[in-house]
Amino acid sequence: MKREDIDKVLAELNELKCKTLKDVEEARVRFLGKKGEITALFDEFRTVDKDLKKEFGRTLNELKQKAQETIDQLKGALEDSASQAAPKTDLSMPGDSLPLGSRHPVSIVRQEIVEIFRKFGYDVAEGPEIEDDYHVFEALNFPPNHPARDMQDTFFVSAGHLNPLLLRTHTSSVQVRTMENSKVPIRVVCPGRVFRNEAISARAHCIFHQLEGLYIDEDVTFADLKQAILLFAREMFGPQTEIRMRPSYFPFTEPSAEVDVSCNICHGKGCNICKGTGWLEIMGCGMVDPNVLEASGIDSKKYSGFAFGMGLERIAMLKWRVNDLRHYFENDLRFLEEFNSSIEV
Ligand code: PHE
Repeated sequence: MKREDIDKVLAELNELKCKTLKDVEEARVRFLGKKGEITALFDEFRTVDKDLKKEFGRTLNELKQKAQETIDQLKGALEDSASQAAPKTDLSMPGDSLPLGSRHPVSIVRQEIVEIFRKFGYDVAEGPEIEDDYHVFEALNFPPNHPARDMQDTFFVSAGHLNPLLLRTHTSSVQVRTMENSKVPIRVVCPGRVFRNEAISARAHCIFHQLEGLYIDEDVTFADLKQAILLFAREMFGPQTEIRMRPSYFPFTEPSAEVDVSCNICHGKGCNICKGTGWLEIMGCGMVDPNVLEASGIDSKKYSGFAFGMGLERIAMLKWRVNDLRHYFENDLRFLEEFNSSIEV
């Protein structure tokens, strides 16, 4: 036996490459099988000189161990990649279906109204829900201690300052911020959440949603306001809809009005939804008071404008005839699922 015979087998082992498990088995037989190359070397070992036996014995054992390791490694690698390639799951099985959510009725109404006004050329503006007294009251012509502040039961966040922080009681605060930050002409709608300290009942809630509209330009008149609201009402409630305006009061508009639409359920005959009157109240509106324009730096001699504001839950109630406000806030799936068909993709 010669040292080169061992080195030759070792070199072959180092070069060994197997593509399949069958190749690995063939290699095992070739090196370690009964008639394998390494087995043959062990047979030859018997004829080795006594004083060389120790050295050859150790090298041969190392060779055999190396051969075994090489074969195990190749086999392991091939088995791993085979198991990765094999599909673990049955891809032909139908997937788990996830329940499809639906838009909240208030969101549906808000989107519908925003789309109508977008067609009329209005942008959308937003503002903070935690506001200061200035933007909710002062700039809107509610002087301190003005009795109209009592109309809106305010939640205060920090009291005792000249300009306390509070939860906005109406989205008219966004009207002020828009006038402060943009140039005339202004045409915006401001949808958002508002907060009032009211006992929760079927007809009142401490949180609800409003959408405010504001239009300011030269020569804007009450006739423009009436026309804008009539067009909106017909888009929203159908082409037969009529509107009527009743005189009202808001500190920030003069003159002010409440708007009713003709009842689209009884068409004016009188039913329990319109309480026999044939009319449904939908919003407040008016010509922006010159004091409000001036407070936000708009020249009231040059410009005039109108504003209107409506409650989105109120519109949703009219649209779907769900007359308990609490349903809109309780997130009861049985209620929300009723609006599944209203999903727009
Ligand atoms: N901000 C008023 C309210 O909350 C609604 C309104 C808006 C009235 C704009 C007139 C003009 O009641």
